[in-house]
Amino acid sequence: MGSCFSTTTKSTSEIAPFDLVVKPPPTTAAPTPAKTPASSAATVRLYGPSNSLVTSYLRFALLHKGVSLRFIPSEDQKPTIQLGSETVTGSQEILIRYIEEKFPEPRLMIWKFNLEGFDEATPLIVKMIWLQHRSMLWHIERMVRWSEDLAARGGKRAVDPSVGTPKMEIRKFAKSYTMLQDVMVEHAQMEERILFPVLESVDRGMCKSANEEHGRELPKMNGIKEDIKSIGVLDSGCCSEALYSLASRFISFKVMCKAHFEEEEKELLPMVEAAEMGKEKHKKLLNQSLQVMRETHSRTFDFLLEGLTPQEAMQYLDLLMKFGDQDLISSFLSSNIVVD
Ligand SMILES: [Fe+2]
Repeated sequence: MGSCFSTTTKSTSEIAPFDLVVKPPPTTAAPTPAKTPASSAATVRLYGPSNSLVTSYLRFALLHKGVSLRFIPSEDQKPTIQLGSETVTGSQEILIRYIEEKFPEPRLMIWKFNLEGFDEATPLIVKMIWLQHRSMLWHIERMVRWSEDLAARGGKRAVDPSVGTPKMEIRKFAKSYTMLQDVMVEHAQMEERILFPVLESVDRGMCKSANEEHGRELPKMNGIKEDIKSIGVLDSGCCSEALYSLASRFISFKVMCKAHFEEEEKELLPMVEAAEMGKEKHKKLLNQSLQVMRETHSRTFDFLLEGLTPQEAMQYLDLLMKFGDQDLISSFLSSNIVVD
């Protein structure tokens, strides 16, 4: 998965290698899209502003198609796709249709949410929370694998030279964990401030167990953070035991979070739909949630999207583009503008 807005080296390099950045081609009017499907081996060039939701949406659509993609950041607000001799510029809809015609498989299924058990009536906040759970779980599982790998190497240098020295690797690990913790804390705050009060107002006591679990997660997360800090100050090569203990803490944290997310998804989220609020109320809840999760949707937005499949990431971006308050979304994007 890849980057959308921030300057974090890892995720950006996966999707938009800046060593491959070239000048955008001269813009031409959108040709009539050719009906012939293109080979997925063909390289697609996508030009557009790197801090735009539409550009991100197109990037994830192309990633979903499994094409070879070169993203070239450009000042032009209208994104452009270049495939062979064809250059298409236009609205998100035009470009999505072009992508779908050129690369029919796998289908985007963008016209409605197709997540497990979801349909058009599923409340927006439920879709958002469900997708956030997917991303957080993916990141927790990644940290488990990474900590196990670190422990197995006994703090010795990784095979991949780009990881750097063991000290550098621990710093990267700590940075990744901090982002995960920030997202998880904001997610829990959003549920406690926005979701739980709505559910409690229709049936008091409904969120008691989920609330208590949030209370147990925080000390666990802080404990892991302390462990990582103390490993960071140890000399490399002599912290095998500490690394094994960190890996086992991550495993038990994963088990705890997985069970907690499942409980919320089975016991609480269906109740939002059952509470029979109108569409406007659902939109309001979504925007209130976004307000609480400001950092996640600006500074750590790349990180959040990185934990989703391209299809899921597009659905998340779709939620923001269709139902997010424009001023709010703009304030998220402007806080991510890269200044050289
Ligand atoms: Fe949750």
